[in-house]
Amino acid sequence: MLKNLTLHKVTNYEAMSQKAAEIFAEAVNANPTGSFGFATGSTPIGMYKALTQMQKNSQTNLSKITAFNLDEYYPIKANDPQSYAYFMAEHLFTETGITKSHIPNGEAKDPQAECEAYEQKISSTGGIDMQILGIGTNGHIGFNEPAQNLLATTSYVPLAEATIESNSRLFASPDDVPRHALTMGIHSIMMAKRILLLASGASKAEIIRQTIYGPITTQVPASLLQLHQDVTIIVDSDAAKNL
Ligand code: F6R
Repeated sequence: MLKNLTLHKVTNYEAMSQKAAEIFAEAVNANPTGSFGFATGSTPIGMYKALTQMQKNSQTNLSKITAFNLDEYYPIKANDPQSYAYFMAEHLFTETGITKSHIPNGEAKDPQAECEAYEQKISSTGGIDMQILGIGTNGHIGFNEPAQNLLATTSYVPLAEATIESNSRLFASPDDVPRHALTMGIHSIMMAKRILLLASGASKAEIIRQTIYGPITTQVPASLLQLHQDVTIIVDSDAAKNL
């Protein structure tokens, strides 16, 4: 394994969430007004719960950070319970008092202009100190799907069929899943000073192996993280079973 990657293998989802929250809180405590990048999905929910608890116990204070989210469906209304804006408010931002939060606007009239403005906002804060990532079973990070070419900066992208299928579990029917998203690009993610990637469950085992040990290929977008200077990966025993 490359020296710029740190791997923590832990027993289960709770241990992964706790470890991730501790690493993240330490980074926030070192820079309480820094910029931090968030992901949505099932994986980080436990981590966000642990961070909320840590703030209640005065072990950290997230209220002064600037938050950037990786992605948002397009089109979607911010107050739609399936939106990532809604997810972040529910799972982290409201209880921890994070008000300087940025999420690509799923209601923007011009998605392209929204992407450019979002990228500008990230760089105007001096860049992201630590970016949290989940990983798709196809190796996507954010909504950067496997492809021959990847996009560098925040972009308006179609979702892969596999992603629509996998995310349809959260919608009333697969037809309700938006077909597009606004996502930070590979460059936007790679510019974060530190990356914290979480994976839980057997469905992630093979893609985690390819991410860490496989060839660097745009067909596994997460494999590009091998080129980042400071990546921490936390996996539970099911996700680690092919390592
Ligand atoms: C979410 C995101 C996605 C998810 C990935 C894994 O903001 O960017 O890349 O991290 O789809 O999702 P879960 O955690 O639901 O398995």
